Amino acid sequence: MSFWSDKTVWITGASSGIGKATAIELAKKGASIILSSRRAEVLKEIKSSLPNPERHQTLPLDVSDSQKLTQLLSTKTELLSSVNVLINNAGISQRALTWDASLDSERHIMETNYFGAVVIAKSVLPYMMKANNGFIVILSSPAGKFGFPLRSSYAASKHALHGYFESLRAELKETNIGISFICPGRVQTNISKNALQGDGSASNSMDERLARGITPKQCAEVIRRAVEQRKPEVYLGREQVLIYLHRYAPWLFRWVVKRIKPN
Ligand SMILES: NC(=O)c1ccc[n+]([C@@H]2O[C@H](COP(=O)([O-])OP(=O)(O)OC[C@H]3O[C@@H](n4cnc5c(N)ncnc54)[C@H](OP(=O)(O)O)[C@@H]3O)[C@@H](O)[C@H]2O)c1
Repeated sequence: MSFWSDKTVWITGASSGIGKATAIELAKKGASIILSSRRAEVLKEIKSSLPNPERHQTLPLDVSDSQKLTQLLSTKTELLSSVNVLINNAGISQRALTWDASLDSERHIMETNYFGAVVIAKSVLPYMMKANNGFIVILSSPAGKFGFPLRSSYAASKHALHGYFESLRAELKETNIGISFICPGRVQTNISKNALQGDGSASNSMDERLARGITPKQCAEVIRRAVEQRKPEVYLGREQVLIYLHRYAPWLFRWVVKRIKPN
């Protein structure tokens, strides 16, 4: 029996990029997957393309509306009680200067990346605590460790995840429930195309540097190993050097960031 064959894994943002690649990676290892995102039809197609499609389920939802999300999840207790591993991955980025970003666009990023992840985690936490077992993965970013131009609200939302889930991890110290932050640098996904501009519309543009990033599959393999080895925090991709610079040589970090042309 493999590590994954008795695990049910709930992945948010499973219709694209890192979430989709993680669904494929874990299904291949024998896990049963619950796929969530807003696009029900895309989720269905992905489910049927996975090995053993009958073992997997879709749960379409919008994480940006906490009230509706809470209501929906209150009707899914049986499904939620089966979750062993939660991959809190749904997210949206930003490509706007701070003074151009409407408050609505900033709030949408916060609702999606932060409150969405909080509501999702709180829906499975009571069951994990009852079983005294479980694992929660948080898709963060180097922007969860430092600020970066054109991403003020995105960076704020990812920083907020660290504050919240690090506190939760400390509260769970007597339990067998683990939490892992995954901080990938650039991964070749639609994240920059879907990123919000100041007026709240999608940027619809692929960042040059993102196109040269690691593949979603490479990121999914790292996520799999992080759960298997219960790693508290993982950095990957070239951009991780900036995390260390920010931590150990902040003056040099500021010098470098001033010279990077952001996109
Ligand atoms: N790509 C990178 O370079 C990179 C680097 C560091 C961290 N990350 C993080 O990795 C995670 C996944 O991003 P990605 O790169 O795979 O981007 P992506 O290809 O744009 O995928 C984003 C996923 O989130 C879902 N989503 C967005 N808004 C949602 C909402 N309101 N409700 C439910 N689902 C929603 C999307 O599905 P629907 O459209 O179907 O709802 C999609 O499945 C994000 O948290 C991102 O911040 C990415």
